Formats: sequence, structure tokens, C-alpha cells
Amino acid sequence: MHVDVFGLERWFAEYEHEADVMLAESGIRSLDASRFDLDPGKLGYVIPTNGDPEFRARVADRYDREADEVLFTCGTQEANFVTFLSLLSAGDHAVVVTPTYQALHAVPESLAEVTRVWLEPPEWELDVDAVADAIRPETQVIVLNNPNNPTGRYHSRETVEALYDLADDEDAYLLCDEVYRLLAEDPLPPVASMGDHGISTTSLTKAYGLAGTRFGWIAGPEEVVESAWQWKDYATISPSVFGQHVARQALGEQEADILTGNRDLATRNRERVADFLDEHGLDWYHPIGVNGFVTVPDGFADGTELCRAVVEEESVVLAPGEFFGYDDYFRIGFGRPADELETGLQRVGRVL
Ligand SMILES: Cc1ncc(COP(=O)(O)O)c(C=O)c1O
Repeated sequence: MHVDVFGLERWFAEYEHEADVMLAESGIRSLDASRFDLDPGKLGYVIPTNGDPEFRARVADRYDREADEVLFTCGTQEANFVTFLSLLSAGDHAVVVTPTYQALHAVPESLAEVTRVWLEPPEWELDVDAVADAIRPETQVIVLNNPNNPTGRYHSRETVEALYDLADDEDAYLLCDEVYRLLAEDPLPPVASMGDHGISTTSLTKAYGLAGTRFGWIAGPEEVVESAWQWKDYATISPSVFGQHVARQALGEQEADILTGNRDLATRNRERVADFLDEHGLDWYHPIGVNGFVTVPDGFADGTELCRAVVEEESVVLAPGEFFGYDDYFRIGFGRPADELETGLQRVGRVL
């Protein structure tokens, strides 16, 4: 079994620790732990290990599902990982809409055959017919990330429903990674609420600013959730008891305050980045969420050369487009506090 090196994670490993400003993070800035009660009581496993049943029932309500149709995980990453393990093995096939977060195609590629269907720049439109053409009798899952990393494209309800119908017709699943969904002002219904063939994965990382809780979940049909739980027994056993304790508060009494504050920050920062790109004659698709995919200007061989110059000369981390299959783009994350974003943009401006 082989899995490709996770290019973006290695890039972060090379530069993030030493750099002054991080403009390559795709989520909103992190919240302080001090706003939460941090005493979960005894530091054992979460029991039962798939997550507290009452809390799972509350999360399941968001999808019109039952408690046993939700599995708590260590972030979206584990949610996706154990879902892929439960759906795919040798001889199976998956269709993955790309560009996307590398884990969403690299893990399926290590388990089964994968056909990637590419979004169409510059608007990053999704061609539903191309997905239909890619489907085979062995297709188990269509994989979507909506809103999309790295482009910030939020595919419409009609498009997602069309993909769901394709999955339904083939007796396959539509798996949607919705980790950026609640950064949208007007979020679409989650895919797991669409019917028996819908699976949603998400976490507190990107929209809430709580990556360190490592708390996420899968919502979907019980047979998939049950099988994912079987794999999870061999990975992390249970979610973290701290993560679950903070998650109760973040998804409870604090939720409206957190999400409103985060969306406001995203809106203000997005406008600032749009102005900055205009000043420098750079193009992007006006994104949902807090990361955008930007064209590389003349004078740089590709996005990697530009990103290396920016980090080595000005200590600001950006993400090269090559990690998403587009050498002539770079990804900028603008979820940081406004003053940090400003410092970062001024430094990027000097290199440009
Ligand atoms: C689409 C997508 N899914 C999952 C993750 C990982 O998120 P988590 O911290 O919830 O594991 C990322 C991180 O960048 C992402 O972009």
C-alpha cells in the first residue's frame, strides 16, 4: 500500500515554525482556550468511544439523523480517513472532484481506483456531466469538498443535488467534506441531510477556529458510520475528552457568538485581500471561506517560486498551487486577525 507525500503539510513543516506571518492557513484564526470551561472531569477515554450518546443525538439533529448515525472523530481528517477505509478496497472506484485538499484524493488513491474530475477555472465550475461520465459500476463514492479548498468555490444547491442523484442512481454515496460550510453567510443544507446516500464530514477546525480540539464527526447512514467506527477502534479509539468538552460549549451556548464573529472577520479580511489583489493586478475567484486561489504574476516561473521568495525574503508563508495541481496559482489564507493580515500583505506586496 502506498500513499503520496502530503505536499502541503511538508511545505508547512519546512517553513511555518520559523516564519513571522502565516497566510497559508485555510481556516479562521484560533480562539483562546480561556473562553471555555476546560475541566472535563476525569481524563479517561470518551465512553462510549464513538462519542457521548446525548451529544451525538444533538449533532445528529442538525442532519435529521439519529445518534447512531454520527461518529465523533479526531478532526475531519480522521472522519474522512475512516470513511474511506469503510467504503473502499481493491477493485472499487471513487470519483473525486478536484482541485481539493490532498487527503481527499490521496487516501482513496491508496485504496482503490480514482477518477479525478477537475473544476473549470476561472470560476471553478463543476461539470456534473463529467462526474456522470466518470462513474463506473464499481464506483462506491463521489467525493466533494464544499466550499472548496483551495478555490473558495461554493457549489450551488442544484449542483450538489445533481451529484447526490448520481450517487443515488448508482447505489453509491456522495461524501461531502463540509469543514468550511459554516463560514458561508448562507450555508446550504448538509449532504447527510439529503437522504440515505449522503455523508457529511466536518469539525470545529476551520469555521470555529478550534483546530486544537481535534474534534470532528461523520454524519451519514448507520452502516457507513458503524463500519467507520470499526476502523476508528484501530486508530484513535475515542475522540479526546477535552475536545468533546469544548465542543459541547462551542456547539451550544457559544455557537452563535463564535460563528458571527468569525464570519464578520472573514468578510472584512476578504474585502481587504480583494483590494490588495486589485492593486497588484492579480486575479482570484471571490471565495467563500477564508482562503482564495490567486494567479501568479509575470516575473515568477510558478507559484512555488513566488511562495519561496515571499517566505525567504519576507517571512510570510503562502501555499504554492502545485500542491493542488495548479503550478500557476498560489493559495492565500486570510483568516488571521486583521493586523496580522495587514503586515503579511505589506510584506507580500514588497516581493511583488
Ligand atoms: C477540506 C479539508 N478537510 C479536512 C481538513 C483537516 O481538518 P481537521 O483539522 O478538521 O482535521 C482540511 C485542512 O486544511 C481541509 O482543508
